[in-house]
Amino acid sequence: LLLIPPSMATFPPLQNDLILRAARGEQVERPPMWVMRQAGRYLPEYHKVRAGHDFFEMCRTPEIASTITLQPIERYEDLDAAIIFSDILVIPQAMGMVVEMVEKKGPHFPEPLDTPEDVAKLKRLGEGCDVKKELGYVFEALTLTRQKLAGRVPLLGFIGAPWTLMAYMIEGGGSKTFTKAKSWLFKYPEDSQKLLQDITDVAVEFLAQQVVAGAQMVQVFDSWAGELSPVEFAEFSLSYLRQISKRVPERLAELGQERVPMTVFAKGAWYALEALCDSGYNVVGLDWTHDPAEARKIANGRVTLQGNMDPNVLYGGKAAIDKAVKRIVEGFGGGKQGYIVNLGHGVTPGVNPEDLGFFLRKNHEYGSA
Ligand code: CP3
Repeated sequence: LLLIPPSMATFPPLQNDLILRAARGEQVERPPMWVMRQAGRYLPEYHKVRAGHDFFEMCRTPEIASTITLQPIERYEDLDAAIIFSDILVIPQAMGMVVEMVEKKGPHFPEPLDTPEDVAKLKRLGEGCDVKKELGYVFEALTLTRQKLAGRVPLLGFIGAPWTLMAYMIEGGGSKTFTKAKSWLFKYPEDSQKLLQDITDVAVEFLAQQVVAGAQMVQVFDSWAGELSPVEFAEFSLSYLRQISKRVPERLAELGQERVPMTVFAKGAWYALEALCDSGYNVVGLDWTHDPAEARKIANGRVTLQGNMDPNVLYGGKAAIDKAVKRIVEGFGGGKQGYIVNLGHGVTPGVNPEDLGFFLRKNHEYGSA
């Protein structure tokens, strides 16, 4: 396949726009479905490609990233969206930080942010961080994947939310307590806001350029939202999530692009569902701590809800999966309006691909009834 510059590409017509219609709140024949981390370590075909490659090297190689993105689409006919193979930590990399993916451990920053003085060393949008240059490989991967998809299903782009990225940049990796990142919020509130704003500026441009390159819907992952109290969430996370939902469409208009549906997934922030339904996003992703019917009552038609089966149900066997899917689809009112099927978090490496296939089939069945 020829690599066409992202901004000049034209794409084959879309044959399945179920997820785009559901995101806009329209009545649909059945709920669309995709799963977080659908391209990943539970798939043997992923491991085949992964062998002999560094994780971020795969992200930076459009041919490999597009191949992995398509693997679940080729395996499961029930999927209604593809999500680009990449990572939320490409933003800290574009801002000048080194991030490695350590086997069996996860992401590692050899030099995390230690004090507010370190923020000044980061490259900011227009000041050392040229998004089209630093993240050009993501745009190329999106364009190539969109061509290879040939209109089968829409292609999703994504970013990490400012708070979640800040937490990684300070902790230097995952954490049980988030002591370092959270102590910044209390010790250096103004420097924290400045860091969050710098991340937001890059994130807005990155997300808008993903749409230019071929993303047809986008998701913001705030994986560590649940570490914050409602007060800190409002101040240090939600305000930036709102900025993103407002500024991305504005930037797209400047770039002469149509707006695309936007999803926010603030894991663990169940207390903020009311506010998230009013934060400028079309879709709100839910983890498994929400009761579907309760969440639907709170959303009250303002947004489409996405989720929310505990990924661990996939280890419970077919009867357990069947029971959970039936209950969840019913909880979301049958799924024909305002609902997108997903898990409450990413599919984990030990899941049997056949059990995920069964999950999708059952959703298809109960969601069509
Ligand atoms: O299929 C998809 O969902 C698209 C690709 C995707 C990946 N990461 C690939 C990946 C997406 C959307 C992400 C987002 C991401 N990355 C998040 C937000 C979602 C979430 O899980 O809360 C976060 C927090 C990260 C950071 C990250 N990347 C961690 C903590 C880890 C290690 C732990 C883990 O689950 O593997 C990664 C690595 C990673 N990102 C892998 C994949 C397929 C596994 C890497 C490997 O092969 O070793």
